[in-house]
Amino acid sequence: MKRTTILAVLMAMAAMTAQAQTYLDPNAPLEERVKDALSRMTTHEKIQLLHAQSKFTSAGVPRLGIRQLNMDDGPHGVREELEWNTWSPAKWTNDYIVAFPSLTCLAATWNRDMSTAYGNAVSEEFAFRGKDIMLGPGVNIQRTPLNGRAFEYMGEDPYLAGEIVVPYIKAAQANGIACCLKHFVLNDQETNRFGVNVNVSDRAMREIYLRPFQKAVEKAHVYTIMGSYNMWKGVHCCHNDELLNGILKKEWNWDGALISDWGGTTNTMEAALGGLDIEMGTYTDGKTKESEFGYENYYLANPFEKLIEEGTVPMSVLDEKASRVLRTIFRTAMNPKKVIGSQCSENHYDVCREIGEEGIVLLKNDKNILPLDASKYKKILVVGENATRSLTQGGGSSELKTLRDISPLEALQTMYGDKIDHAQGYYSGRAIYDRVDRIDPEKQAFLKAEALEKAKEADLIIFIGGLNKNTRQDCENGDRESYNLSYGQNELISELAKIQKNIVVVTFGGNPYAMPWLNQVAALTHCWYLGSESGTSLVNVLSGKVCPSGKLPVTFATRYEDYPYVKFGKEAYPGVDNQVYYKEGIFVGYRHFVTNNVKPLFPFGFGLSYTTFAYNKPISTVANHNIIIQTTVTNTGKVAGKEIVQVYATAPKGSVERPTKELKGFAKTKLLQPGESETLRITIPKEELSYYDETKHGWTLTEGTYTLNVGANVNDIKGKVNVEVK
Ligand code: BGC
Repeated sequence: MKRTTILAVLMAMAAMTAQAQTYLDPNAPLEERVKDALSRMTTHEKIQLLHAQSKFTSAGVPRLGIRQLNMDDGPHGVREELEWNTWSPAKWTNDYIVAFPSLTCLAATWNRDMSTAYGNAVSEEFAFRGKDIMLGPGVNIQRTPLNGRAFEYMGEDPYLAGEIVVPYIKAAQANGIACCLKHFVLNDQETNRFGVNVNVSDRAMREIYLRPFQKAVEKAHVYTIMGSYNMWKGVHCCHNDELLNGILKKEWNWDGALISDWGGTTNTMEAALGGLDIEMGTYTDGKTKESEFGYENYYLANPFEKLIEEGTVPMSVLDEKASRVLRTIFRTAMNPKKVIGSQCSENHYDVCREIGEEGIVLLKNDKNILPLDASKYKKILVVGENATRSLTQGGGSSELKTLRDISPLEALQTMYGDKIDHAQGYYSGRAIYDRVDRIDPEKQAFLKAEALEKAKEADLIIFIGGLNKNTRQDCENGDRESYNLSYGQNELISELAKIQKNIVVVTFGGNPYAMPWLNQVAALTHCWYLGSESGTSLVNVLSGKVCPSGKLPVTFATRYEDYPYVKFGKEAYPGVDNQVYYKEGIFVGYRHFVTNNVKPLFPFGFGLSYTTFAYNKPISTVANHNIIIQTTVTNTGKVAGKEIVQVYATAPKGSVERPTKELKGFAKTKLLQPGESETLRITIPKEELSYYDETKHGWTLTEGTYTLNVGANVNDIKGKVNVEVK
């Protein structure tokens, strides 16, 4: 053959190959890429996609140039790099990241734009670190104030959690990073999280627990979801056919990949047929021990391949799983639009600080002691371990390694200089995971005496305490043991307040807690966890540089007994013989407090400001499927501030019991200058007013007159409108 002919043949062959390699063509439709890739793969290659190949990666198909998936915790920043096969730090020096505020804090901003900023910034850090999937965010419902992981979730209300999670996911995924929404579903307690079977009515399941997940699927098209450890209807949620194939994939039409929680897979047949797509593990053999070639023994590895080869499980099951994983790979690792990202940029720190400032909730402010007028005080005593403790550490898998971690004490010293004195007041154990019962009483007494002594010299005390991510103090794999603050904080605050009535209490924590000293203190702010810029966010609020505008995403009860499930005993929490019964049904959080007239210490949606707001009479219009509530808010005080307007629906009497009020809309104003007004339009799709009808197994919209209560929190309604729904 002539040289030119050979060349022509070669070029034609190359063109054919290139044309045929649809899966590598970023401009080809996603489903065609998936189909093409799948058609080229061997059974073994398909199997390889479905399980871990290291602690935080699953394999691609090297022969075809299909990339692996790199995952990492999540959800408040990128976790420190760990060794390929162990839980030991890889000891990198370039994996310091920005710790963003806890998700409870994000929910407390009630600000969808903050959620977009969060999702964008945190995913840029994941991209920079070479990750494809971030393990988070989480939207489990805060059913109990003892939940060890509540700080990783978005409060007690499914509407608020759903509305806040959607922008986060959209922003992250627009950067080519998949979110892995946690923990699907009913992982509402850490006590016995691996063994507990949750018994919940279909109605509560749909209206409360599944609702935020459904929104994330339908409105944000979340790419991956993590199955939870616990069981529902006696089957683990990581491979629960009814939940994953029935509800998630079929009913909600979800096309993403379901990833197991680490070590949450327990059975090959169930994993094969129950809707699990990627099995990840705590140990290299999946559950219990480390071994050299452990990953091959995962339930979805060799044992599953055997079932396919024998014909016990049809190839279509494997193809469907592999397709879901391929889709995820093309959406992330092989997405040409995936951003390069950046790490520890000043912009990310700004986002972190602003979310913190907007999420801090001012709960009490007698005689306007806040914002602090420093000229009034000669000596300000700061007491409490959380004034200096790094709260980006601890808590379990969400722990972060930070370069910048500004403590409250440091920020107070920067702002107020020599006026600041400090006494630790109490201690919680040196090791991060120390238990409350390992505290040395003598040391505790010494620290307390020292603080009380110094208090006599001070004309203002700022107490900084709360929970701290120790085991059973807001930490994975164990719930809190008491509704009270630990380490003698109650007694200490109370005694300090007897010495100095100018006392401001600042607490950190993902959960509500008892405050027997509340009447003794002048002011109280709750800060959740604020991340790298913790001290700066806090001091900007205390000093008045920023006007507080956060509101509670969870009810603070006076007494633990006031939470809805408590009266039902241990069966309702934490369960007996591996069974827990959600006997309060849909009456979770404020739905119970409001309907049953139980007075909370601080209601859902509550938060004070340094300014005041007036609401005009709300008006409503109905357009197609939406109800639009319009209200004008005016800043009637002396400083600029933001207000969160909340809309709670009261349904007409129907065949089932409804909560007296349910959150169905909210909006936050811009920063309003004194005297300035803003008109907010809050859209409520009519179907948001439906309830889940257990007899029909579907959503029903009762016809009749709905009252839409517009207010500043669930118990402070400023105006009402009635709307006819047909
Ligand atoms: C947690 C997950 C986490 C995973 C990997 C599990 O124990 O429940 O939330 O993503 O570990 O660290």
